Amino acid sequence: LAKTEVELANIPEGKNVIIKWRGKPVFIRHRTADEVEEARSVNWKKFRDPQSDEDRVKRPEWLVMLGVCTHLGCVPIGESGDYGGWFCPCHGSHYDISGRARKGPAPLNLEIPPYDFNDAEGKLVV
Ligand code: FES
Repeated sequence: LAKTEVELANIPEGKNVIIKWRGKPVFIRHRTADEVEEARSVNWKKFRDPQSDEDRVKRPEWLVMLGVCTHLGCVPIGESGDYGGWFCPCHGSHYDISGRARKGPAPLNLEIPPYDFNDAEGKLVV
């Protein structure tokens, strides 16, 4: 199966990058310490798709997810929405800085694809 590699040094802290993986967009965000803190300090047990931030990332600073809205499949926009994460303009779903569905019709959090880090080469492999 096709793998996509991304050079992590090219993604500064506080920035998003979108890559293609199996024809779908994958969002990669290099989160700041404040964003990690925010993602982890909220009461996620009350969310519609309850999931801790710790269960959604392998490393706190790297958030990797499919850029496909769980409502009807549009591509959400980064650095927008009411929760500092992503906003889907199709029908108004808001995702937080962990990609969790917080508001609007999206029933589920943004999906996490399988990925790994290649530390020797400083790469993320999706
Ligand atoms: Fe994203 Fe409907 S497809 S809100």
